[in-house]
This record gives sequence, C-alpha cells and structure tokens, in this order.
Amino acid sequence: MNQDDMKKAAGWAALKYVEKGSIVGVGTGSTVNHFIDALETIKDDIKGAVSSSVASTEKLKSFGIEVFECNDVIKLDIYVDGADEINPQRHMIKGGGAALTREKIVAAISEKFICIVDDTKAVDVLGDFPLPVEVIPMARSYVAREIVKLGGDPAYREGVITDNGNVILDIYGLKITDPKALEERINAISGVVTVGLFAHRGADVIITGTPEGARIEE
Ligand code: A5P
Repeated sequence: MNQDDMKKAAGWAALKYVEKGSIVGVGTGSTVNHFIDALETIKDDIKGAVSSSVASTEKLKSFGIEVFECNDVIKLDIYVDGADEINPQRHMIKGGGAALTREKIVAAISEKFICIVDDTKAVDVLGDFPLPVEVIPMARSYVAREIVKLGGDPAYREGVITDNGNVILDIYGLKITDPKALEERINAISGVVTVGLFAHRGADVIITGTPEGARIEE
C-alpha cells in the first residue's frame, strides 16, 4: 500500500461519522480529497458542507454538494480534516496547504474534529514539519524577526497567497514541547493571522491509514 492508498483508507473510513441530514465540516488537502470522493456517494443523504478552502469548495460543488457559508451555520457535528503532523496528545501541525486559518475557524464551530492521516504523520514531538503561520503581508519581516527571537528559522513561502489574501511563513528548526504555549505566543505577535498549531483545539478522533487499513482511535 502506498501513501496515497493509506490516505484513501483514512478518508473513506471517516464516512461512518457523517449523520444523515447533517451539514459536514470539510477540510483541505489530498487526504480530504478522498473523503470528499466518499462523501459524494452519500450526497443525497446530507444537507451539505461548510468548507475550509476554495479548493475544497470547488470539489464539493463539482459533485453537486451544497456548500454553506460559515456565517450561516451556528454549529457543526463533525469537522473532517488532515494534518501535517500529530502527536500523542492529539495536537497537530496544519497548514501545509496554506488553508490553516479557515481550517481553524471551521474546527472552532465543530463539536468533533476527526483527523484523517496516513501513518507517516504521527510524531512524538511536533516540529520536524515546518510550522506554517499566516501573516498580513505588511507584517512579514516584523513577524519573521519575532519568530527568530523564539528560536525558529522562518522562511517566506514564495509565490503563495492564501485564500484570505495573506502570506505564509514556514518556521523550521522547532522542537515543540509545549504546543499550547507556543500557539498562544505566536498568535499574540501583531500581524499574525493564525499559526498552524492546533493544540487548544486538537483532534477528538484520529483515523490513521496504515498498510493494514484504517485504524480508528476515539
Ligand atoms: C491544509 O492547509 C493542511 O492543513 C492539510 O490538512 C494538511 O496539509 C494535510 O494535507 P494532506 O492530506 O495533503 O497530507
């Protein structure tokens, strides 16, 4: 089984958490794309979706799944999304696909965060994957200098503009032993829209695609 097959196993296994008649929170990325493929098979049984990116919105709409504005929905039962790294405490690094801010917003209105990953994403300590930070363009240099003071090595993700019109700094060289504290510290820097650390709002369910199929931890 290759990595994409494991992502597919995780994405399809998430289908069992989708309630009839519900609006489903849908994340972003290659693993979520498999979940959207699965969702199409039950599209007549659901009301629709709230999406965390333009890319996922387009895919959902191409399948005839209605996409609701986040502002029009008070609460979602589930949010299904991938991660770039996940630790044993279920804290995550996200934002490899630059959709971190909208992902955090949709996760915030959801009762249950269902994280779908392949088994390469599990780590003991977060930080080998460069930590994405969405930044207001005029604050880019200032935020980068503040990140250096925290011991990180920020790199500007050239050529990437987020769905919100901002830029991404990827922080290399961190060993994130206190994810909640670092999430608060980086979010407090002026000009930061959000950091891709999901520690205060971690995952509730993890579905891991493995060579033996999907493993579910509730
Ligand atoms: C998107 O911004 C990310 O948070 C994704 O959830 C994450 O990068 C996982 O992506 P893949 O499923 O493509 O590995």
